[in-house]
Amino acid sequence: MREKVLSMLKEHDDYISGQELSERLEVSRTAVWKAVNALRAEGYAIESIPNRGYHLTSCPDVLLSEEIKSHLKTKVLGNKILHFDTIDSTNNEVKRLAEQGAEEGLIVIAEEQTAGRGRRGRTWSSPPGCGIWMSILLRPELTPWEVSSVTLVSALACAKAIRDELGLDALIKWPNDIVINGKKAVGILTEMSAEQEAVNYVVLGVGMNANISEFPEEISNTATSFLIESGSRINRSLMVAKFVMYFEKYYEIFCNDKTLTGIKAEYEKLLVNKDRDVFITEASGTVKRRALGINDKGELVVENDTGERYTVRAGEVSVRGIYGYV
Ligand code: BTN
Repeated sequence: MREKVLSMLKEHDDYISGQELSERLEVSRTAVWKAVNALRAEGYAIESIPNRGYHLTSCPDVLLSEEIKSHLKTKVLGNKILHFDTIDSTNNEVKRLAEQGAEEGLIVIAEEQTAGRGRRGRTWSSPPGCGIWMSILLRPELTPWEVSSVTLVSALACAKAIRDELGLDALIKWPNDIVINGKKAVGILTEMSAEQEAVNYVVLGVGMNANISEFPEEISNTATSFLIESGSRINRSLMVAKFVMYFEKYYEIFCNDKTLTGIKAEYEKLLVNKDRDVFITEASGTVKRRALGINDKGELVVENDTGERYTVRAGEVSVRGIYGYV
């Protein structure tokens, strides 16, 4: 009920009467009044004037599921959203729930992670109240090989959401870091549970440095946040909703033929490495190559000095720019 009242208040720039709310939601005036009070207790500022009704004047900057859902227009993703003040890692929580049979589309989001994890066994700093630390449960009909493309799908969705919502020039560093002005603003960690050819589930974990005002000196050359880049605090719930909507759209396109053919052109348009020299580090050492783009499996197509082309796979190599992070 809170969610529905909130959505209706948001649809109205002006006051909406308790009578109208109760009629449109087909509940009693008392139920409306209770929902309004519950929303106020969560930090929503809702003015009320006798004979005019209610008017929403501001929303709290917390990632409450009602708040996110009130912006979300998706078919499956986000049908259930669990919000935690603090948790070890949202990826871990989604895994725990997936093992208990949770459905595709579940989103776990936390204000703080005490054991946030990054790729290659690194930790992911997740301070309270200023980031977007979230994970989505997927149950795709894919082979384990095809799952690695999901991470590129999510990178495209994330870059699009940032560009659209914040107007920032977000680009993709292959395969799935999001960079703004040459620094990393978002990291993505995709994990899966699979048996031989069959995937049980996939956990898509996304960490967005949203309203972080500064970084420790060691990483301030390579890390940034939406706040630093835009100069103002962003509405995290809107950002989450935008990302999930883009992700659902691109994920559907990808799942249709299980290749990146349908989104390759859009991905490459935002690929910061495209037609640039990069250092590629693999088990045998580091080499300089020219990055040309991706293929429909999400591998990076590179060219050596003699013009020979081949592909490298995410997870098997790491890529960085020849002058620094990009
Ligand atoms: C990277 O190393 O670039 C990936 C970072 C992924 C961080 C996110 S935050 C939400 C989710 N939970 C985790 O423990 N990690 C991912």
